[in-house]
Amino acid sequence: NVLYLAHKHGIDLEGEGACEASLACSTCHVYVNSAHLDKLPEPEEREDDMLDMAPMLQENSRLGCQII
Ligand code: FES
Repeated sequence: NVLYLAHKHGIDLEGEGACEASLACSTCHVYVNSAHLDKLPEPEEREDDMLDMAPMLQENSRLGCQII
């Protein structure tokens, strides 16, 4: 689950979600494992835009606040 993954990557979603899920930051950036990624809806355009600005962008990057 996402919170577990976030924890694993050292991200505290509640503490780090600076914009409170309004897609105005990328502090909730997480990597989703591929098995789970398949089950998620595609990122919306605004999520993609924010992800473009996130450091260490990967194929499986998502914004945690949008997938929990
Ligand atoms: Fe800011 Fe997710 S908390 S985009």
